[in-house]
Amino acid sequence: MSDQETHHYDVVVIGAGGAGLRAAIESLTTGARTALVCKSLLGKAHTVMAEGGVAAAMGNVWPEDNWKVHFRDTMRGGKMLNNWRMAQLHAQEAPERVYELEEWGALFDRTPDGRILQRDFGGHRFARLAHVGDRTGLELIRTLQQRAVGLGIDVFMECKIVRLLVDRDGATNGAVGFWRESGRFVTFAAKAIVLATGGVGKTWQFTSNSWESTGDGHALALWAGADLIDMECVQFHPTGMVWPPSARGLLVTEGVRGDGGVLKNIDGERFMFNYISPYFAAETADTIAEADKWYTNKADYRRPPELLPRDEVARAINTEVKSGRGSPHGGVFLDIASRRPAEEIRRRLPSMYHQFKQLADVDITTDAMEVGPTCHYIMGGVRVEADTAATTVPGLFAAGEVAGGMHGANRLGGNSLSDLLVFGRRAGLAAAQYALSHPAVAPTESAVVSVTEHALSFFAHDSGENPYALHQDLQETMQSLVGIIRVESELVEAREKLAELAERASKLSVEGNRSFNPGWHLALDLESMLACAFCTTLGAIERRESRGGHTRDDYPTPDPAFETINMVTRLSGGEVAVTHLPRPAMPAELAELFEESK
Ligand code: FUM
Repeated sequence: MSDQETHHYDVVVIGAGGAGLRAAIESLTTGARTALVCKSLLGKAHTVMAEGGVAAAMGNVWPEDNWKVHFRDTMRGGKMLNNWRMAQLHAQEAPERVYELEEWGALFDRTPDGRILQRDFGGHRFARLAHVGDRTGLELIRTLQQRAVGLGIDVFMECKIVRLLVDRDGATNGAVGFWRESGRFVTFAAKAIVLATGGVGKTWQFTSNSWESTGDGHALALWAGADLIDMECVQFHPTGMVWPPSARGLLVTEGVRGDGGVLKNIDGERFMFNYISPYFAAETADTIAEADKWYTNKADYRRPPELLPRDEVARAINTEVKSGRGSPHGGVFLDIASRRPAEEIRRRLPSMYHQFKQLADVDITTDAMEVGPTCHYIMGGVRVEADTAATTVPGLFAAGEVAGGMHGANRLGGNSLSDLLVFGRRAGLAAAQYALSHPAVAPTESAVVSVTEHALSFFAHDSGENPYALHQDLQETMQSLVGIIRVESELVEAREKLAELAERASKLSVEGNRSFNPGWHLALDLESMLACAFCTTLGAIERRESRGGHTRDDYPTPDPAFETINMVTRLSGGEVAVTHLPRPAMPAELAELFEESK
């Protein structure tokens, strides 16, 4: 190998949000030499945007709660497209993972008798979200980070991975990236790799995601030969800020609705009563009187429609705005001020209080917030084996948002934090076991050089094609043509536009040199975003039905035939191809749980 910087590990975890941290902790404690590599600073991850809580059936507030109810809620929320085995493991193991966090120092809010307090969230039958005010993701990251650093895990920050390396047998044996500060290349030789890179949100214009969420892990897996599934299933969180423009898309936690907040249109109408789908009618209150009684007597009354799953609420807000009943800045009103005392709002929702006060000059203890849907999460992702998080590429594992299957067509709020704990741990364990039982295969110099040459090629282009302009065009394309409501003609137009954008992207030129060059970084991030956008669009064209986060105006209902398959996108001859993969049937003992709930 040339004199390029190279590090040798058993397991390299790429991404240092909750899933990456949890995977690295498990891998190290299983005995594997483990490194954690992240594009940003340690702790700066989309995990912090899961503000309202971590879902786990601990039964602290409602003793009736248990893993079976959580499993059922998750499957129904995902419109039955979930990998049932993942949903089962998740529901069974989430409580243990939350108690483990508590042991590691997480400071959850408490019930009067000192147990971990749990709050309501959409689609969850019982108050189930363990929380720390509205800063749960932050506390989760803080706790895991402290644990990881305490264990002495090697952390490589501000390192962008450009490609995974694959040996002659098709197994991964490392990754090549560069230091964002210096632009110098670095190789990680590894027996196993865990992808924990989060989502793709920066592909859309209005998003709760920060600059890091560019689909890197999805694209790295795709390029390495892995399958992606159900990439058309994208979550638009119903409540993002819509005003001021600089804050547009910023998350407004579902905890506001969980704590009693209601949605109103410009006429002051609680419009969600007009959008109760037959799917959830049996459990949803259809009058304001009943909905309001539910807050004090959950046994005898049904839940308010503001707590329907996110896909349903986002579509309803979208319709209200499109029908001219929106708020002045193109959203709807979210009112907690008239529902809870000011002191309680400040105590339970401190981040929301400060966010609106400082960014919008709105006092949420006296005035309603203006909110609208914001791209928040992708349910689709790398196809993994449920128990081990192994992808279809030997030695490659994936956990957290980058992995597909767990959430089906729509994720319930709070299930992301428990997902990343449960499957972060499982991925770290399986990757370590794999690494400890396989010999190292050194990356070849030619494999490394082909990555570095490709990455440097942008400096040689003189097209004048600017990465920032291209990113804007990509975001506008996805926002307007592959958004909440989709239709064949627009999806086909998006596919054509993406082909043009990909052509432009291959000629992007960057100025300056390699040391801290954000234009160059974006050019490389755009490769990932474009790859993911293609997969989403192709999947969306092919899924001719409406299900969860994928709504087709031209196919407005679910089609049972599509419930039996995952939409797989993979590289074939250098092109992304879509195929249908039959889903395994649910075993009888789990299927019975749905019979019981009828
Ligand atoms: O609304 C929220 O607090 C987000 C939670 C989540 O995405 O799980």
